[in-house]
Amino acid sequence: MDIEFVAATAALPPKSALARIVFEGGALDGAAGQAAAASRFTGAKGQTLDILAPSGVDAARLVLVGAGKKDAYDAMGAEHAAATAYSAVKASGLTTLRIELPNGADAARAALGVRLASYRFDKYRTKEPAEKKPSIAKVQIATTNVDGSVADFAPLAALADAVSFTRDLVSEPANVLYPVEFARRAAQLRKLGVGVEILDVKAMRKLGMGALLGVGQGSTQESRIAIMRWNGGKKGTPPLAFIGKGVCFDTGGISIKPAANMEDMKGDMAGAACVVGLMHALAGRKAKVNAIGAIGLVENMPDGNAQRPGDIVTSMSGQTIEIINTDAEGRLVLADVVHYVNTRFRPKFMIDLATLTGAIIVALGQDYAGMFANDDKLSEQLTKAGLETGERVWRMPLGPEYDKLIDSKFADMKNTGGRSGGSITAAQFIGRFVGKTPWAHLDIAGTGFASGSSDINRSWGSGWGVRLLDRLVAEEYEG
Ligand code: BES
Ligand code: MN
Ligand code: ZN
Repeated sequence: MDIEFVAATAALPPKSALARIVFEGGALDGAAGQAAAASRFTGAKGQTLDILAPSGVDAARLVLVGAGKKDAYDAMGAEHAAATAYSAVKASGLTTLRIELPNGADAARAALGVRLASYRFDKYRTKEPAEKKPSIAKVQIATTNVDGSVADFAPLAALADAVSFTRDLVSEPANVLYPVEFARRAAQLRKLGVGVEILDVKAMRKLGMGALLGVGQGSTQESRIAIMRWNGGKKGTPPLAFIGKGVCFDTGGISIKPAANMEDMKGDMAGAACVVGLMHALAGRKAKVNAIGAIGLVENMPDGNAQRPGDIVTSMSGQTIEIINTDAEGRLVLADVVHYVNTRFRPKFMIDLATLTGAIIVALGQDYAGMFANDDKLSEQLTKAGLETGERVWRMPLGPEYDKLIDSKFADMKNTGGRSGGSITAAQFIGRFVGKTPWAHLDIAGTGFASGSSDINRSWGSGWGVRLLDRLVAEEYEG
């Protein structure tokens, strides 16, 4: 789909829909006014009203999109309204959509909304009927400042590409996207100028990564770590580090999961996918920052060679772990990757993302990610970036009082802490591998996939976190 910025006076191509973003209570005239009077359209946020063959309007279809109260409308409002407009007409059979905004200054953000809304993961459909496919091939955003909008959109287009890259990874099935293939996809970032290094099993063994390797040992698919480096900042300044859980499929291992919904566990690499997408975004807009992305890629399978409950593994940090439940595998992967990144790169901070616990869905549902942090400043920055991007985080506690729940009779710690505070003990476990570096852990089990569609996300793999972290970097750590 093409996006163009045009003057509001430009003639509409044939087979066009025209979308007008209107405020609640705003006056409407002509066909729009008549149609609104004959329906319950008030301009409330998210409402749409479709008017076919409108008189006095040079379009085949006019769509009114409610943007809510004028005072509360901002660039985010433009983004969502444009996304709603696109979705309202995408399969109408018309080929062009022109969007008229109440404020032309938000044209680039509106274009971003359309890009995010138009994403589809449809590569495996071979028999979709033509009438179900999107027909809109071009979206024109009307603006008084065409050149300015084109310039404003460039970094946002890079961001949309990155979110799409992440969504693709999350939705790919595990027979296609296994650790070696995931590492290959991460290596595609070299095209954007990102340095990519891959650690294979032999290299990880040499480093002593017994926690990560124990998870992968039951799979015929070999484990990998991919390390991505973007050096857009001053030489020698410590990098920001982003670390992702990349369990390409999580059966639970010997502590096997029930069959219902197990297919969703192809998305258990959403944290890793977010980190790759973030590196894509930073490189795509040539961010002035030094950043590391590191992802632990494994498949958690039951097998004759799989690790057992009761096994004790030695992590790269030297700390030993008793495996109580092989389904608590994400923290084992992160233990080694976090320690590796911390000791090798001495980063300014570390943020890890992981679809870590079902318990975080019980606690927060699917609209907030759980955030755990050893640093108030980082926590506040993430909270703020979350509110600004709509990818919101909610802080949860850490503390020494939780340590007793993960102390083991036989080793330095055990990998589960029981049912109570399940997300907290998981985070507390990772914290034991962090040392003194400022750190935040985002549990994205509720937000990374299957979180329900919204006007800017109709995809199973949400791409959650790319915008959040891109914003955090842009606002707090560049320049
Ligand atoms: N990948 C799962 C968590 C998960 C569940 C993510 C549902 C997304 C949706 C994780 O590896 C897991 O199995 N966690 C266990 C931990 C338990 C065994 C301590 C859980 O949440 O039940
Ligand atoms: Mn698991
Ligand atoms: Zn998992």
